[in-house]
Amino acid sequence: MWSSRLMFVLAAAGSAVGLGNIWRFPYIAGANGGGSFVLVYLLCIAIIGIPIMTSEILLGRAGRQSPIHSMRDLARQSGASPMWQLIGWMGALAGFMILSFYGVIAGWAMAYIVSSAQGTFTGVDAAQATAIFNGFIGDPFEVVAWQTVFMVMTVVIVARGVGEGIETAVKYLMPALFILLIALVVYAMFSGHFMEGVRFLFSFHRGELGWDGVLMAMGQAFFTLSLGMAAIMTYGAYMPKDASIVGTATTIALLDTLVAVLAALVIFPLVFANGLESSSGPGLMFVTLPLAFGHMTGGQIFGTVFFILVTFAAVTSSISIMEPAVAWLVERLYVPRKWAAIVVGGVAWALGLGTAFSFNIWSDVTILPGKSFFDTMDFVSNNVMLPLGGMLIALFAGWFLDAKIRNDELALSPGMFAIWRVLVRFVAPAAVFVVFVMTFV
Ligand code: PHE
Repeated sequence: MWSSRLMFVLAAAGSAVGLGNIWRFPYIAGANGGGSFVLVYLLCIAIIGIPIMTSEILLGRAGRQSPIHSMRDLARQSGASPMWQLIGWMGALAGFMILSFYGVIAGWAMAYIVSSAQGTFTGVDAAQATAIFNGFIGDPFEVVAWQTVFMVMTVVIVARGVGEGIETAVKYLMPALFILLIALVVYAMFSGHFMEGVRFLFSFHRGELGWDGVLMAMGQAFFTLSLGMAAIMTYGAYMPKDASIVGTATTIALLDTLVAVLAALVIFPLVFANGLESSSGPGLMFVTLPLAFGHMTGGQIFGTVFFILVTFAAVTSSISIMEPAVAWLVERLYVPRKWAAIVVGGVAWALGLGTAFSFNIWSDVTILPGKSFFDTMDFVSNNVMLPLGGMLIALFAGWFLDAKIRNDELALSPGMFAIWRVLVRFVAPAAVFVVFVMTFV
């Protein structure tokens, strides 16, 4: 159990805020043309993300076990089919896929701690920053070495169990990251083409974004809020009974969105000021931020600290990606936590090699048509499995969960409950369904 209500909020926020906000959001928004994408993303957070987050916390807290077992027992208590356990299974599978590439990108961030500290970025221009990045990801050994360091860190923390380690990390480091991001936004206001960045992010035109783009925006909403794979459900299992589910979910979603928007407000003004390509892909943050750090006073220190904080944000997320599978192994096979963590981490690490190599020796290999190994993992997990899992979670919580359990956990006023029910029963699942049909059929 988390030591207090605040700690649950912090841990869940730690799960939500991660590479998804600082690395993925800017580059996906950039790749999809900015404003219209951002608008759809915000809509998805509000009408799909928050309702599904309340459902996950609710099911986790009512079940109080690993997702697979919680779902099995809740289905039984509600007189529903045991098939609902599939939510837990799919979540564990999506977790492996996400963790596999997450470890690689977090490894990049760790490598950038060292580069920043060594002053590699001092005075660089856009071309040099790009060359440094390409040189780094082009070296399979170095990338895998950092991926390994990161995965070992994650395994060690998960092996020790939910508790003080995570709590302290989140309590001090997340606010620090937040403050540093604000400082960087101020820097971008003075040194970047700030208004151009703002316009890119917040002006939209109807018809600019195809259904593919809508699917991406929805996938990003799930990924950034850690939804659809039962990670938040797992954390919900440790949530104290007296905390408000809806209030907590809304707070977490707002915090998470704020961090993503701040990160984009740092990155795009720099992109435009330096003549970079907004749609350049996964390297976007790793090229733009060194430019900022390379030119500001004290940039060497700020850069180092920043990448340390990004690494911590990534760790507090990666442990939550791993936790559902680990919790299940421990409950089901009675293996010690330590071994469960090593096995899950090891499998994700091995799968991650495919992503590590996508940017060098396997850069020509495609799995899905036109998609590298990394792009395939990312697409299948974030744009397909998370929304699908989330839709099933909402359907179960909205239609099948025993009413008494539900009311007990939610403790909402009649008016709020009516809104909650419409969102969880109809709006969220139908929205996911429509986007799937429009993109895939
Ligand atoms: N939300 C995390 C991030 O933005 C990633 C994550 C996805 C964590 C799924 C848990 C589950 O970085």
